[in-house]
Amino acid sequence: MLILAIETSCDETACAVVEDGVKEICSVVASSKDFHEKTGGIVPEVAARKQVEFIVPVIDETFKQLLDKGFTKEDIAAVGVTIGPGLIGSLIVGIEAAKALSLALNRPLIPVNHLLGHIYANFVDNGVKIEFPAVVLVVSGGHTDLVLMKGHNNFEFLGGTLDDASGEAFDKVARLLGLSKYLGGRILSEAAEKCEKNTIKGKLPRPMIDSDNYDFSFSGLKTAVKRLVENEATPTEVVAREFENAVVDVLVTKTSKAVKNINAKTILLGGGVAANKYLRQEVEIEAKKLGVGLHIPPSRLCTDNAVVIGSTAFFNQVRKPLSEIQPNPSLGIMDLV
Ligand code: KG4
Ligand code: ZN
Repeated sequence: MLILAIETSCDETACAVVEDGVKEICSVVASSKDFHEKTGGIVPEVAARKQVEFIVPVIDETFKQLLDKGFTKEDIAAVGVTIGPGLIGSLIVGIEAAKALSLALNRPLIPVNHLLGHIYANFVDNGVKIEFPAVVLVVSGGHTDLVLMKGHNNFEFLGGTLDDASGEAFDKVARLLGLSKYLGGRILSEAAEKCEKNTIKGKLPRPMIDSDNYDFSFSGLKTAVKRLVENEATPTEVVAREFENAVVDVLVTKTSKAVKNINAKTILLGGGVAANKYLRQEVEIEAKKLGVGLHIPPSRLCTDNAVVIGSTAFFNQVRKPLSEIQPNPSLGIMDLV
């Protein structure tokens, strides 16, 4: 079954075709992030206007790639679309385009929760069978959630951040250290890689690391970094290293605790921060120690794209009349679409 999927929740305009939820046939992503870099943060109005500009060329290019691979438009069995969470103006553009496609192709439209998309990045072209139950760590710019996945369409919320998401903390600290004005997670991580020795190990707090739940809190960490750089002259790469260590220590410890308590068989990672090399390395070490399976999507599927939306649509085939498919900017990870 071929699903054509559209993702426009934030500053990426993406369209893809996915077969049976697991095979990427084609994928196109355009991004307006360079514009937001200039303004030092996302301006929702600008993001929405860029979505309008990019959506038709991105869909056109996807169809071109589909036809080049020997398929026809008639081969598409359904259309999938992100309905939230995200920026309202950006979401509307993708949803309206998806509705138009659904009508033009005479195929059903499947609403998708963007956050489940980050989980389903694990199921695309992975070549392995994922064993359930799995503990999933979803770490993106807007979310940090631990979820128990018992099977497709069968999720249980374990815990989440009480304030800033881990990606948001990376971005704010990157800005504070003067590394990047917008989405600085990757740049901060590259700075940390340059640090040969963490001479301030343990100086930053590991918030809620020992708390008796699966919740997180990262806003205090950002404040602690601010105090640290104001009071001492520590090289930027050392601060970056210690910050990354602190975030990863907490993420890995909580994930490990959930795996032990639940007796889970697998750990899955998802979301933009799952592209972080140090996190990937530390989770791998922990999974080996625990003797459980581990799957981490390739970096290109960790950040926003439509392939993972097509996969989610296949495994969670919600059917609704078009008029009831509406944007929901504040959709939570466990909310029904
Ligand atoms: O999942 P995503 O593409 O968008 C949201 O749905 O939020 O995640 C974006 C987040 C940003 O905060 C970005 O700085 C962070 O993921 N990120 C990283 C890395 N690559 C992206 N954070 C840490 N290390 C990275 N290598
Ligand atoms: Zn995302």
